[in-house]
This record gives sequence, C-alpha cells and structure tokens, in this order.
Amino acid sequence: MHAPASPHAASLATRIADRAAIVSVIGLGYVGLPLARAFVESGFSVLGFDTDPAKVEALASGRSYIRHIGADSVAAMIASGRFEATSDPARLASADALLICVPTPLTRHREPDMTYVVATAETIAATLRPGQLVVLESTTWPGTTEEVVKPILERSGLRSGSDFFLAYSPEREDPGNRDFTTSRIPKLVGGDGARARDLAAALYGRFVETVVPVESCEVAEAAKLTENIFRAVNIALVNELKLVFTAMGIDVHRVIDAAATKPFGFMPFRPGPGLGGHCIPIDPFYLTWKAHEVGVHTRFIELAGEINTAMPRWVVDRLAEAIDRRFGKGLSRSRVLLLGVAYKKNVDDVRESPAFAIWELLEARGAEVAFHDPHVPVIPPTRAHGPLAGRRSLALDPSTLEGFEAVLVVTDHDAIDWRLVAEHARLVVDTRDRLARAANVVPA
Ligand SMILES: NC(=O)c1ccc[n+]([C@@H]2O[C@H](COP(=O)([O-])OP(=O)(O)OC[C@H]3O[C@@H](n4cnc5c(N)ncnc54)[C@H](O)[C@@H]3O)[C@@H](O)[C@H]2O)c1
Repeated sequence: MHAPASPHAASLATRIADRAAIVSVIGLGYVGLPLARAFVESGFSVLGFDTDPAKVEALASGRSYIRHIGADSVAAMIASGRFEATSDPARLASADALLICVPTPLTRHREPDMTYVVATAETIAATLRPGQLVVLESTTWPGTTEEVVKPILERSGLRSGSDFFLAYSPEREDPGNRDFTTSRIPKLVGGDGARARDLAAALYGRFVETVVPVESCEVAEAAKLTENIFRAVNIALVNELKLVFTAMGIDVHRVIDAAATKPFGFMPFRPGPGLGGHCIPIDPFYLTWKAHEVGVHTRFIELAGEINTAMPRWVVDRLAEAIDRRFGKGLSRSRVLLLGVAYKKNVDDVRESPAFAIWELLEARGAEVAFHDPHVPVIPPTRAHGPLAGRRSLALDPSTLEGFEAVLVVTDHDAIDWRLVAEHARLVVDTRDRLARAANVVPA
C-alpha cells in the first residue's frame, strides 16, 4: 500500500491531517456545491471555482441556486470565513487539492463530451505546482483520468506521482436524499499510483465515514458507470414488465410490491414515464462509446436505452386512449395538465426530464399542454427543448384542475396536494402509482 517517500506527498499529507490543506472545488453545481459544503463543515478552507459568474455572485451574497442546498447553508459557509467562490483561475495556484466536478454530457451524436473536463485540466495545468493533488469526480469512461487529464497536466513539465498527484473519485450524490448525505456515502478512490490514491483517500477520510481505496483510476471510473448502468437496465426491465402486465390487465406496482417481499435475490425498481436526470440516461453511453474502441457492443445498454426512451410515447398513447374512452374525443381537442416536470420527486432539476418529451409528443398530436410543479416555477432554458423555456407553472386549485380533460402525473412530488388532484381532476393518468385506483385514475 505504501509508496516510497516523497517530500511533496509528505507535506501534503501533513496539511491534510491538520485540515490546513486548501481545497478547491471546480464546478459548483449539483455535485460541487454539496462537496464544498462538506469540506467547509469538516474544518477545511475551500475555494470554490466556477466559470459561471452568476453562480459565483449568488454564493458571494449568500444565495443558493440549488433547492436542496438552502440559502442558510450557503450563508453558514460564508460566515465560517472558510469559503470563497471565484471565477479567477489564477487563484487555483493557492489550492493544495483540486477536485473537478464539471459536467460530462453527451454530444448531439451521443458521444462523450469531454469539453468541460479538458478545459478544466488546461486551466489547472496553467498554474500547476509541485505538491498539488488533483482529483477528477465527474462521471466518465474508464481511462479518462490517465488518458485525458494526465497528459494535459504533464504538459506543465511536472510529473504525476512525484511532483503532483492525480486520482479519480466518483461522486455518488443522490440529490434530496436525507438518509445519505455526502459524508455518509462510501467514497471510492483510485489513484495514478499508490501515493496519489493514499493522499486522496486521506483527504476524503477527513469527513467521509467510509473511504474505499481501489486498485486504479480505471476501476473507480468503471465502478461508477457500472452502478448507473445497473439502474438503467433494471428500470428498463420493469418498464418492459409494465407494458406486458398492463396488456394483461395486471397492475405492475402490486406485482413489484409482492415480489419485494422476497428477502433475498430481488431488488425493487419502479417503472415510470421514462428516464431523467443528468446521470442515468447519459452515463451508460460513456461505456458504449469506449467499448467500441475495444470492439465490443454493449447490447444490454442499448436495449435498456431503447426501452426507456420509448416510455414517453407509450404514456402518451395510454393517455390518448383514456381521454378517448372517457370523453369520446382525441388528443387534438384536449387540454392536458402535466403534474411535475422535474425528473424525479422533490427536486427542482429538469435535466433530461421525460416531461419534456411527453409535452412535445402531446403538442405534436394537437393537445394543449400546461403544467404545475411546486419546485419549478418557470421552465429554464434547455439545449434539447428550447421552445418550452419560460413556460410558467399554473397554480393548483379546483378551477385549474377542472379546466383540463386530463391530468398526467409525471413527477410525484410530496409537496403536491394529491387529495385536491383526486377530488377535482376529471381524469388522472398516473405514471408514478401515486394515487389510489379511484374511478377517475388510470395507471400508465
Ligand atoms: N447531479 C448528480 O446527481 C450527479 C451525481 C453523480 C455524478 N454526477 C456527475 O458529476 C459531474 C457534475 O455534475 P453536476 O450535476 O454537478 O453538474 P452541474 O451542471 O450542476 O454543475 C457543473 C458546474 O460546472 C461549472 N463549469 C462548467 N465548466 C467549467 C469549467 N471549465 N471550470 C469551472 N466550472 C465549470 C458549471 O458552471 C456548473 O456550475 C458530472 O460528471 C455528472 O455526471 C452528477
């Protein structure tokens, strides 16, 4: 486990042990901001770096832009005197550890978009100095840390493993989950060499209850993808079962409840209107892309993607049938209220939300569409669904509900008044098993 002595590593290890190391979190989004908060809370000084000046400004004035990180949290970070946000890259030279939490989306051709990771590595390389620890946290294909980040950093003339230290540690944040906060989620750490791994493990070990060192950066990168592929494939499986059981007149949710009583060998996943969020619909395709390089086709991943992306269309077909049966008319003469546009319950994140695909399918078939979401007052600009930006959430009251032929439950936020919906909606099509099967509720 122990690498030969290095003066740079030894002095960094001491600064980490004393909590004297300055930690820079690069990319202050859904992952970076909670991570920065966790380091501040455990006694480190944190320099947050983001290229978005609006975020830096918000943090400097004690405001949060992420619903589950309250303004009080940000205010407490600032009040500690150990947190500062900046968009000045020259400041990165002062950090002992630099943690990269920038986006890793897909390009229009569904290939890994490394732009943000590359830009960040170049920024760090410009001020890299001996004794710094760089950790990539962004989700990515196995090999990225050593094949993409390391060569850029080494252009500085410094060497990984002796001058600076490079590691990969995937983020496992589950936004909004109160049972598993950053410090309670075991943290995988792989290094470019044992020194880097041990330094990164020591750093996270200052506030994460369980750190799990693994053999290499690749193992940690591949483990993160495996976790998300596991979810994508299992969600696709229950989505497929939903189609089969619905056609047979069986409620898939009651089937899953029943199967979940088996105390071993089964894990319940829930079907829904389609995948959403920044991770599960995207990350599996990072492996698909890399697999082609070694001549392997990831058929499970492709199939899961196909089934999951077909769900919005299935839901719209179910809705059309239900409206036809109830009112004897087609979608083109109907008004539909989407309940929830966030990709999952109790968050305000709409990235990759299936609500948008459903919305566009409904409009393409002539329906008039509006939405209510207690956490999304206005639809933000998105790359794929630009025309929906600026649409406002309607107030949820009896007259709103009664004004639509159907209410389509896309996201089952706890903050929605479900009794009001059940009492006043003319027809509810429920993709989340949220409402009891009353006469006006159709599962989808
Ligand atoms: N959101 C999640 O629940 C989650 C969970 C696990 C892993 N991840 C992964 O973590 C990474 C970050 O995701 P996120 O959800 O926090 O994204 P995000 O979009 O919320 O935040 C990314 C931040 O990086 C900033 N940024 C972009 N380019 C930058 C640059 N060159 N330098 C500095 N800052 C830059 C953006 O302004 C933004 O504030 C991704 O790889 C994602 O797959 C996300």
